[in-house]
Order: sequence, then structure tokens, then C-alpha cells
Amino acid sequence: MPRHFLRDDDLSPAEQLEVLDLADRLKAEPLAHQPLKGKSVAAIFEKNSTRTRLSFDVGIAQLGGHSIMIDGRAMQLGREETIEDTSRVLSRYVDAVVWRTFAQKRMDAMASASRIPVINALTDEFHPCQVLADLQTIRERHGKLAGLTLTYLGDGANNMAHSLLLGGVNAGLHVRVASPEGFQPAPDILRDAQKLAAETGGSAAAVVDPHEAVDGSDVLVTDTWTSMGQENDGKDRVGPFRPLQVNHELLGRAAPGAIVLHCLPAHRGWEITDEVLDGPSSAVWDEAENRLHAQKALLAWLLTR
Ligand code: CP
Ligand code: NVA
Repeated sequence: MPRHFLRDDDLSPAEQLEVLDLADRLKAEPLAHQPLKGKSVAAIFEKNSTRTRLSFDVGIAQLGGHSIMIDGRAMQLGREETIEDTSRVLSRYVDAVVWRTFAQKRMDAMASASRIPVINALTDEFHPCQVLADLQTIRERHGKLAGLTLTYLGDGANNMAHSLLLGGVNAGLHVRVASPEGFQPAPDILRDAQKLAAETGGSAAAVVDPHEAVDGSDVLVTDTWTSMGQENDGKDRVGPFRPLQVNHELLGRAAPGAIVLHCLPAHRGWEITDEVLDGPSSAVWDEAENRLHAQKALLAWLLTR
């Protein structure tokens, strides 16, 4: 059975650390390790992407492999071919599949019929590759992970909130998700995070008051209030979110030396101000760079097992 990376807790706490350690080594020596020589990876996108697409493409080349970047809407998958049949065919050509799609159950269907590793490059529910890069960035800036407090402010039911809950507690972080009523994390995912936290010494909590959520926090994370695919869902995604804006005042309540992350793309003046995004606490450009190193580590780890 191949190992997949469909959600953050598909890696055990120890495995996640192995991947992060390898990411640091690959960042120091980008061409030192070429385990993908002679291997091909298909990366399929059903939603827009800048960072994920470029970082996988460059990363696969640096690992010695060949990448095939495909717009999912141009595949037969975009007509009537089933996900499972697509998966069976991909398994005959390439060594791993990277996929950005909509519902997580589509990702699960791809994995269920696959003989090769399937990597989630973002679904409506999870964005686990992003969180590997976030963890690498936090460790670079703070020198450790376990025991730190991370506060996410925004749509608590989106992919970033869910992945930070699972990936964060996997690393022993105390994760607080601050979101308006009606935008709270999926109860089953919050429960999974709390169960995992009991093993790792971290914790997971959903809160409404942004001030309470940020007090003493070491890492503030935000994301767009409207994720891809939610543009016409009829919900007010501005009014209830305004108090969650990451601005100078909110950052002032965090712990001294706190850093700010955003997976990008950012909507300046909405979920985050220019002053914070471009200010000394922001680690967002390192975070974007670390997508490359973290995903190379993940690919190398999955394909050399
Ligand atoms: N953060 C992120 O996944 O960016 P893209 O949508 O540009 O890939
Ligand atoms: N939550 C955002 C993340 C973008 C990388 C979205 O899904 O659009």
C-alpha cells in the first residue's frame, strides 16, 4: 500500500518531524539529494495556484525528477471519466500524484484507487503542504515548535484552519482558532485535533473573541476570508470578520517576538494590513519559500520509503 498525504495527520508526530528535518537539510543544500532521478510526478490543478504549482515544479526538478503540470479541467476528468479510473491510469505512468481539487472526498477517491502516493495540494477541507512550510518557518524563527501558542484568525471552517489544527497539534503546538459564529471549525476535525493533542502535549481550541485568542500568542496566522469556491455562497464574509483583521493593534497583544504568517495570496487591507504584512514581524516571504523545501522533503520521504 502506498503512503498518501491527504491530511496533516497522515504523518505521525515523529514522521512529521523527520520531514521537517529533511526540509531544513534540503534548504541548506538544494541539489544534494536527487531521489527522483528517473521518476515522474503528475501535478493536477482544478483551482488557481501560484506558489503550489511553481514550488512543486521547481522542487521536482531539483530532486532529479520530471514533472507534468496539468489543468484538471483539460483532462477527461473534467468531462465524464471517474476519479477512480483516472487514478488507475495515472498509477501506470507516474510515481506520485499531486492534486488540488474541491471536496476532500474527491481526494479520498483518488487515493483509494491509487498504487502510488497521492499528495493533497489543497482541498476545501485541508491544505497540509502549506502547513509543513508554516511549521518549518515557525521553527526557523522561534527555534522550536512544541509548547508554542499559535492563533489562527479567520474562517475557522476553511482548509487552513483545519490543517493548522491537525498539523499544529501534531507538532505539539497550542492551536487557537478565532472565527465568527457560523464559521467555526468542523466539529469532527476539532475533535481529532484534541485527541491528537492529548498524545503530543499540545492543545486545540475554537474561540470567538480575537483579543482573548491572541493574548500571549507566539504565532499569528491569517488567510483570505473567502476561499476559492466560496465566492458565491451567499454568506457575509466581511462584516463578521472585521474584528479578526491582523493589524498593529491586534499584533500588540501577542507575545513579544511573535511572528505573523499568511499562506498568500493576501487581500491587503482586509484580513491583514500593509503595515503588518510588510513589517518586521512578518515571516510570509520565508513561509512562501519554504513551500519549496517542505514539499521536496515530503516527496523525497514518500518516494524513498
Ligand atoms: N498558498 C498557496 O497555496 O498559494 P497558491 O494558491 O498560489 O498555490
Ligand atoms: N483558504 C484559501 C487558501 C489559498 C491558498 C483558499 O482555499 O482559497
